[in-house]
Amino acid sequence: MRYPLTFLTKQQDRVVIRPVRTGDLDSLLTFVNAFAKEHTYMMISGLTFTRAQEKIYLESACKAKRKHEKIHLIALAGRKIVASAEVRRQPARKNHVGVIGVAVAKQWRGRGIGKKLMQLLIDEATLLGLRLLILESFEENIGAIGLYEKMGFRIAGVVPGMFHYQSGYQGCVIMYRPLPV
Ligand SMILES: CC(C)(COP(=O)(O)OP(=O)(O)OC[C@H]1O[C@@H](n2cnc3c(N)ncnc32)[C@H](O)[C@@H]1OP(=O)(O)O)[C@@H](O)C(=O)NCCC(=O)NCCS
Repeated sequence: MRYPLTFLTKQQDRVVIRPVRTGDLDSLLTFVNAFAKEHTYMMISGLTFTRAQEKIYLESACKAKRKHEKIHLIALAGRKIVASAEVRRQPARKNHVGVIGVAVAKQWRGRGIGKKLMQLLIDEATLLGLRLLILESFEENIGAIGLYEKMGFRIAGVVPGMFHYQSGYQGCVIMYRPLPV
């Protein structure tokens, strides 16, 4: 894929999409910690990441990209990261499988960025030679599940009570999408 890539949102905001680099450390830390503070359907909700932790993550993400094990894309509005998306190749007998994750900053949702990033991840995964994409969603995250279905994902099943959410538990929807060989 050719990066950086310019994308116009539904509201005609100009967003630049490209793979993350080590120089993105501070903007990625700001993005991830803002996201973690938000009470939403994300695994990282409630956590706080230090600069040192994020540096380790970022270096390993860049190394994994060089080894064709992972693509982590970011969307930037000016210098600010407004969305992040990744596909991770799984090891060993799941070496043909990629796990996907997408996150769009609150103020930037509903503008087409999540959908665009999903399409790019599917294209990147195909280029990596993956044969199957997998993702997990909170059962009540109807909007995200709707987006994934639009992008060709199907529901494999629901694991009851897998996520701790608010004062209770909720199911984990496992979705999959075969890729063209
Ligand atoms: C889920 C998330 C990634 C989606 O990104 P986004 O940029 O807001 O989504 P988009 O604006 O690209 O819109 C997604 C598509 O899903 C569709 N969609 C939204 N809600 C839907 C619903 N309830 N049913 C069906 N489709 C729905 C939209 O109509 C849109 O399709 P369209 O452009 O053809 O109309 C983003 O909202 C987010 O980060 N949310 C918080 C964290 C999260 O829940 N992450 C997912 C964890 S599994």
